[in-house]
Amino acid sequence: MTQLTWLVTGCSSGLGEEFIRGILSRGDKAIATSRGPISRIQKLKEAGASTYSLDVSAPKLEVDSIMSLIIQENGGIDVLVNNAGYVENGTLEESSRETILAQYETNLFGSIKATQALLPHFRQKRSGTVVFIGSMYGWGGLPSGLPYASSKFALEGVHESLKESVAHLGIKSIIFELGFFRTQVLHPNNFKSRISEIGDYDALRAGTAEFLQALQGNEPGDPKKGIKVMIDVVKGEGVAAGKAMPERLPLGVDALDLVRKKCEDTLAICKEWEHIINSTNFD
Ligand SMILES: NC(=O)c1ccc[n+]([C@@H]2O[C@H](COP(=O)([O-])OP(=O)(O)OC[C@H]3O[C@@H](n4cnc5c(N)ncnc54)[C@H](OP(=O)(O)O)[C@@H]3O)[C@@H](O)[C@H]2O)c1
Repeated sequence: MTQLTWLVTGCSSGLGEEFIRGILSRGDKAIATSRGPISRIQKLKEAGASTYSLDVSAPKLEVDSIMSLIIQENGGIDVLVNNAGYVENGTLEESSRETILAQYETNLFGSIKATQALLPHFRQKRSGTVVFIGSMYGWGGLPSGLPYASSKFALEGVHESLKESVAHLGIKSIIFELGFFRTQVLHPNNFKSRISEIGDYDALRAGTAEFLQALQGNEPGDPKKGIKVMIDVVKGEGVAAGKAMPERLPLGVDALDLVRKKCEDTLAICKEWEHIINSTNFD
């Protein structure tokens, strides 16, 4: 099997860390990145990864220069995994422009900047795969998590538009839409809820808090299993052997339920309203 070189963002914990361990276990080369001091991912260096400090919300020029250093020092990159992200909670009315922008700065623009920095390299070698770590909430909205859900919805559009624009250059793009996986994503240090509370949303907020409290530490998804599937899919091995790379892949029972329901609901709307939908063209 061809040995690939992977660059993963957001490797200080959770899926990023598991990605690096999974990549190394397959005999591939792994480049782990994390914001803050590089010592935070020393254990991944000891496991065999190259490590770099990269805050995906940094200015574009900074991201560009770290990425070009990484490409230069590692003899190229084959797969970029846009994994860095966090959850910013809040309804539309309670979320400030600043918190929504902060969420987009990491989850959306972070992925865009990292991808932009790598595309010239991928174009030059006429190959490369861009992986986006999306969410089931990029399919169905999240009433109490508008900044997060909308950032993941936007990532869907980035992936779909990118995929079409670079296919003729030998570059692939895929988005994985994850259900709940047991990581640090809901840990109080990471989960942000910077909102101006409005009384009319008290019940929604209380319900969300109760749901999340019960969920934290009990998320159904096993990161190791999820990572194995994602690596298989990118490499076309294991569970993905003999299959074409799908355009997207939901992961987890909860993600499948949500995606399937959205598809069925949308098809039902198309069916019920078809003659009206088709009635708006010029005669
Ligand atoms: N776990 C789930 O249930 C789930 C479901 C759907 C999607 N996802 C997505 O999966 C990805 C990974 O999350 P996770 O579940 O593994 O959670 P996690 O354990 O909290 O890991 C998130 C990682 O992203 C990093 N990060 C955050 N902001 C960053 C920035 N500006 N620059 C660089 N790194 C940054 C964090 O670094 P710090 O330690 O510095 O904060 C951390 O390493 C995220 O995109 C998340 O939205 C997760």
